[in-house]
Amino acid sequence: MILAVRDLVTGYGVGAVIHGVSVDVAAAEVVCLLGRNGAGKSTTLRSIMGLTPPRSGTVEFTGMRIEGRQSFEIARLGIGYVPDDRRIFVDLTIEENLDIVRRVMRRDGHWTLERVFQLFPALAELRRKSGSGLSGGEQKMLAIGRALMGNPALLILDEPSEGLSPLMVRTLIEAIHRIREDGVTLLIADQNVKFARRVADRGYIMEKGTIRYSGALEALWANEDIVRRYLAL
Ligand SMILES: Nc1ncnc2c1ncn2[C@@H]1O[C@H](COP(=O)(O)OP(=O)(O)OP(=O)(O)O)[C@@H](O)[C@H]1O
Ligand SMILES: [Mg+2]
Repeated sequence: MILAVRDLVTGYGVGAVIHGVSVDVAAAEVVCLLGRNGAGKSTTLRSIMGLTPPRSGTVEFTGMRIEGRQSFEIARLGIGYVPDDRRIFVDLTIEENLDIVRRVMRRDGHWTLERVFQLFPALAELRRKSGSGLSGGEQKMLAIGRALMGNPALLILDEPSEGLSPLMVRTLIEAIHRIREDGVTLLIADQNVKFARRVADRGYIMEKGTIRYSGALEALWANEDIVRRYLAL
């Protein structure tokens, strides 16, 4: 396993929000966390990244225990993270947004400015434009490109398809396929099961901070009862 999460418990205030979640991701796999609003998908990802530190449980990345470490350190070990709010630098150009990650992370590898621009040609055309002039979809592409500039072994995407036009969703699906072909493992949280089945091999369905179901995306999709109970279309 590239990532092994065991019995994760975490929360924001007094009570816990995640109650003993276990998730495995094998190298070269694409795994999706599914579930409706408030199910605990983002909190699980934030906890893996050390942003909402685990209260108990373990997180192992490439055989190393990472729970309790600082999020910057976790990123440096090779986990790229794209939060749902994207957080690009609006005062920097697209090129600067990408290059700063390369300089800060100092993890050279496959992903370079040119490779990110090949992946998202729309960004290449806008490379000297500031982040503030981008559409929502372009900002999402840029946020993914930034995470790739750190050459992660594992890329975590929170709600990548949210708010995208059907055309942008298609671009995103193709990009995820290419990222995977280039050897990156992905863990994706999304509400949209139709999107998930086009990109992921396996899925975990969350509800109220626990895992209710896990299995192959196709099996999950074929189970109407599960889709109706836990998922949004
Ligand atoms: N910053 C926060 N402070 C307090 N509670 C929070 C915070 N963020 C999320 N929660 C609560 O934690 C629970 C899980 O939320 P989380 O955002 O992890 O769910 P989600 O599955 O990502 O939902 P969504 O589909 O809306 O993104 C919810 O009950 C939510 O209200
Ligand atoms: Mg969320």
